Amino acid sequence: MLHGPPSGPCCECQGDPLCNYTGNVAPNTRLGIPQIKMNDGPQGFRDNNHPGTSTAWPSALTVAAAWDEELMLQWGIAMGKEFFDKGANVQLGPGMNVARVPKNGRNFEYLSGEDGFLGYTLVQPVVRGIQSQNVIANAKHYVLNNQETNRGSVSDNADERTRFEIYYQPFWGASDAGVGSMMCSYNKIYFTWSCENNETLATDLKERMGFKGFVMSDWGATHSTSIVQGLDIEMPGADFMGAKLLQQVQAGRIPESYVDEAVLRILTPMFAVGVFDTPNPNVRSNNVTSEAHNDLARRLSAASTVLLQNNGVLPLATSARIAVLGWAGSNAYTHGGGSGTVSPARVITPLQGIATRVDSAAQITFNDGSNITAAAEAAAAAEVAVVFVGCNSGEGSDRSTLGLDGNGNALIAAVARAQPKTVVVVATPGAVLTPWAASVAAVLTNFMPGQEVGSAIADVLFGQVNPSGRLPLTFPVGENDEQFTDLQYPGLPPSNPVYANYTEGLFFGYRWYDAHNVAPAFPFGHGLSYTTFAYDSLVVSGQAVSFSVRNSGRVPGAEVAQLYIGFPASAGEPPKVLRGFRKVFLGVNEQQTITFVLRDRDLSIWDAGVHAWQQIHGTFGVFVGASSRDIRLSGQFNF
Ligand code: GLC
Repeated sequence: MLHGPPSGPCCECQGDPLCNYTGNVAPNTRLGIPQIKMNDGPQGFRDNNHPGTSTAWPSALTVAAAWDEELMLQWGIAMGKEFFDKGANVQLGPGMNVARVPKNGRNFEYLSGEDGFLGYTLVQPVVRGIQSQNVIANAKHYVLNNQETNRGSVSDNADERTRFEIYYQPFWGASDAGVGSMMCSYNKIYFTWSCENNETLATDLKERMGFKGFVMSDWGATHSTSIVQGLDIEMPGADFMGAKLLQQVQAGRIPESYVDEAVLRILTPMFAVGVFDTPNPNVRSNNVTSEAHNDLARRLSAASTVLLQNNGVLPLATSARIAVLGWAGSNAYTHGGGSGTVSPARVITPLQGIATRVDSAAQITFNDGSNITAAAEAAAAAEVAVVFVGCNSGEGSDRSTLGLDGNGNALIAAVARAQPKTVVVVATPGAVLTPWAASVAAVLTNFMPGQEVGSAIADVLFGQVNPSGRLPLTFPVGENDEQFTDLQYPGLPPSNPVYANYTEGLFFGYRWYDAHNVAPAFPFGHGLSYTTFAYDSLVVSGQAVSFSVRNSGRVPGAEVAQLYIGFPASAGEPPKVLRGFRKVFLGVNEQQTITFVLRDRDLSIWDAGVHAWQQIHGTFGVFVGASSRDIRLSGQFNF
């Protein structure tokens, strides 16, 4: 039970035709313990042997951009159902590492964006959703696996306060939601491998955060028989927790109680989510796609599309003559690369989505943008030009640039010169540079939008869906706004980093921009709507902050009201930190009162001297608004 062989007909699963999931732990027929069948990944069931038999969801960062806990729950339930219907009982996801480095190749897979509180909050409904389907969720990659450059050997060195206040938060949220498993990561922390790091595993995760489930290694991330340090299951790529563990227990070097503890941590979530009580006869070759899930994938993508700017050109009329340009044809961006990739049964491209939405397909011209002159001519001949551009990334390497792929920038510049009504839609695996924003009429991002990308973006462009996405991470002006040194990222020596020191501490992302009073291209929490919202009546009473939001525009829409707190200067915290958000759907002129009740922890810092939260007392700032830079109401209170 503590060692998972490589997938495929080998090892302890020999002969079992079902032993071909990403991860397999042999059953114990004598004791009636079912086989553990783990599969990738964070945005759907990856099945390279049966492509097209599961839903290619929008990526985790994408769904996070909806800032909607109810949608996260629906997404978790739907994913969990597909894993169960494929015969799996562990989903190797959600991914949740905080986006410290804008160029990290796997930011698209992580639902925290650049903020630990956002991750802490959004991960909980996903975990509950997945586990409601008799499938154990897996919080990954614990911890500080925040770059792909040399992920298998670099030491990520972040101090204890920074770990607890930011990087642990999403995993703590998963633990509070009852997640059954965690995945320890490839990297080291202060030069000790993550999967044998007593401080981060046994002490911080299990003792201080109170995690009760089991810790599995990433594939090949085990470096010793580290059951005492907190590893419970070794997954493929090594053999430290099989025969070698048995030998050490029999020789009395490792007390058997550690084996009992690890097995208990595995069996408990298996019982809790119903693996024992709900037999699962399904096989991996099942086709688990459905119209209901196609529709949910479309709703998730539409709700997570962020309207970055709009001079009024959007929403489009269905009678408009439109030039559709760039990556909108058969090669639409849908997802990032690596172990989390899902091969969709279908992709509704933006061109298809738009062509089926207008009054007559004759209104549409398409040009793939490879010939910029021809694309600009097509734009000039139309009433509106919609340019689809993007960039991508994947597991195993970081992005070389935050800029667009190919000729994206030049294409936009030429089209914008030819057509004042130019709309740009950017697909991106995380932060992206938008140097042309001032020269176009509107900009949207749909991140990694999944298989229903075309229907979803058409829903937003034509106004069937009023955009309500918000940026879960900052869109910078340049490649390195925050002036990270090589020591910070990718670490030293830069050619083959051995260690990366988190000398910025708490001050990265919007926290850095605020502390240095620097304006990003588009700020954390930013996103526009086709309507407007008015904020009023801020009242702070004790730890309760309440205010009203009203739809002051002409169409129904959803607002994500955000609460930021400013600590007394003596606390050494950034100028303001996210401590609450709520998505509210409001009809025209409808208003709603929103109340956040701050937890003691929300007004505390982590004291590394005593390894516990320390409440701060003094005068706190309260900032309520539509983004980290669009503060509508402010006040203060003493605590
Ligand atoms: C990979 C990834 C992890 C994945 C595992 C199994 O290396 O880091 O996210 O779940 O191995 O494919």
